[in-house]
Amino acid sequence: MKEQTQPTLIVLFGASGDLAERKLYPALYEIYKKNGNKPFVVIGCARRPWDHDQFRAFVESSLRETLDTESKGFLQRFFYYPLDVNHTDAYHELRDLVEQLDRDYHLKGNRLFYLALAPEYFSTVTLNLKEAHLTETNGWKRLIIEKPFGKDLTSAKALNDDICKVFMEDEIYRIDHYLGKEMVQNIQVIRFANPIFESIWNNRYIANIQITASETIGVGERAGYYDRTGALLDMVQNHILQMVALTAMEPPSRLETEDIRDEKVKVLRSIRPVTAECVADQIVRGQYTRGLLANSERAIAYREEDGIAHNSDTETFIAAKLYIDNFRWSGVPFYIRTGKRLKTKSTQIIVQFKNAPLNPYLRTFNGEEPNLLAIHVQPDEGLTLKLNAKRFTEKWDTMPITLDFCNNCSKEDYGSDAYERLINDCMHGDSTNFTRWDEVALSWEYVDGIIRAWREKPIPLNFYEAGSMGPYESDQLLKKDGCEWWPLMKLS
Ligand code: BG6
Repeated sequence: MKEQTQPTLIVLFGASGDLAERKLYPALYEIYKKNGNKPFVVIGCARRPWDHDQFRAFVESSLRETLDTESKGFLQRFFYYPLDVNHTDAYHELRDLVEQLDRDYHLKGNRLFYLALAPEYFSTVTLNLKEAHLTETNGWKRLIIEKPFGKDLTSAKALNDDICKVFMEDEIYRIDHYLGKEMVQNIQVIRFANPIFESIWNNRYIANIQITASETIGVGERAGYYDRTGALLDMVQNHILQMVALTAMEPPSRLETEDIRDEKVKVLRSIRPVTAECVADQIVRGQYTRGLLANSERAIAYREEDGIAHNSDTETFIAAKLYIDNFRWSGVPFYIRTGKRLKTKSTQIIVQFKNAPLNPYLRTFNGEEPNLLAIHVQPDEGLTLKLNAKRFTEKWDTMPITLDFCNNCSKEDYGSDAYERLINDCMHGDSTNFTRWDEVALSWEYVDGIIRAWREKPIPLNFYEAGSMGPYESDQLLKKDGCEWWPLMKLS
C-alpha cells in the first residue's frame, strides 16, 4: 500500500489557524525528525500579511519542544504566501512560488494540497487550484481535506462533485483523525489476528457492543461552529461510525486499501435506518447544564457559553442504539454515546459477551458477571479482558479478574500522533486510513435519516449536569433492554 518516501511540496491553506498550530506543525516536525532525507517543503497560505520569517516564528512557537540544532533546517523549509482564498488572481502568483520551490528543492512536481480551513472554502480553493493550473504537474497531486465534509448528504455531494472536477478519487484524502489513532487501527488486528476473538465475534456470542467517546471539554472557542452542528454531526457522522464499521466489518481478503474500505462500506450499508416510529426508542439527545467537573472546576451551562443562544437546543450529548442488519450482527445492539463536559475524557469500545447458558459456576452470590473486552482507544491505549475465576475459598464462588495490556503506559512506548501518521500516509500514497466517498455518503444517509425522524416526531432534549456521564435517559436507553453502560475501564 505504501510507496517509497518521495520529495513533496505541501501547500497548506489555513496556515495561521488553530488546527495547523496545534496539530499539523508538531506532526510535520515529527515526520521531519524521523526522515533523515528531509522529504518536504511547506508553503503556508493564510490571510495574515506575514513574511516567511514571521510565519517561521509562528511555526516554531507551535512546536511542543524547542528545536535542537540539528533540526534548525526544519523551519527553513517553510515559506509563506499571503492569500485571500476568494481572490482568483492570487493563485497564479502562488503557482510561481510553487514552481520555483519545486525547482530549487528538486521536488519532482509532487504536490500535496492541504485544506485546513473553514469548510465553506473547500470548493472555492479546490476549483481555484485548477483554474490557476496548480494541479497540472509532472509529479503526483493529492488533496487532504479536513472535516466536516458537508453538513448533510446533499451538501456533501455538491462538495464532492466540485473536488472531483479537480482530483480523482484516489487523489482525495478525506481526514477522519480517529483513523490515525493507534488503537483504532489496532481494531482490525485484535479481531482478525486472534482466532479466540474472531471465532466468537458474532451474534451467537456477543450480547452487545458499547462505543463511548466522552470528552470533558465544553465548546470552548468553537461556539459558532458547534451550535450549528451538535454532537450527532460533529462526532457520530464520522468518528463513531468509523469505529462501528471497523468493529463490525468482515475480514478483508487482502490487506489492500480498497478491500478494507469495501468491507467498511458493507457495514455502513447494513445499518438499519432510524425512522420516525423508532427514533424515540433509539436516540437520546442531551445538553449540559452547570456542574462540577472531575478536577473540581465549576462549569457553566452550554446555554451560558459565549456565542451560544440562551435557548439553544443543540445537543452536546447523544446516545443511540443501532442495529446492523446482516448475518453476523442480526439482533446485536450497538450502543453508542458521545458528549462534551462529561466526567472523563475517554474513548472505549466495550464488547459484552453472552453468558454461557445455565452455567452453574456463574450462579454465585455475585450474580452473573459477563466477559468483557474493552479496547481502550484513548487516553490510555490498550486492552482489558474481563473474565471470571474462582475465589480463594473452598466454595465455588467466582470473582471477576481483569487482564490488561497497555500500549502507552510507559513513555518510551509512545507512538505517533494521529496527524503524523495520516500526513505520512498521504505522502506515501496510502489512503487506507482516510474515508472514501461512499463511506462518507452512507454515513450521511444514516445521520440525515435520524434528523428527518426527529423533525417528524420531535424527541426531547434531556439535560445533564456537566461532570456527569450524560442524561438519565441515556441509562434508560439500555435499561429497557436489560443492559447497562459498563463503567469505563482504566489501564494500570
Ligand atoms: C473533532 C470534533 O472532530 O474531534 C471535536 O470536531 C472533538 O468537537 C474532537 O473535540 C475529539 O477528538 P479527540 O481526538 O480529542 O478525541
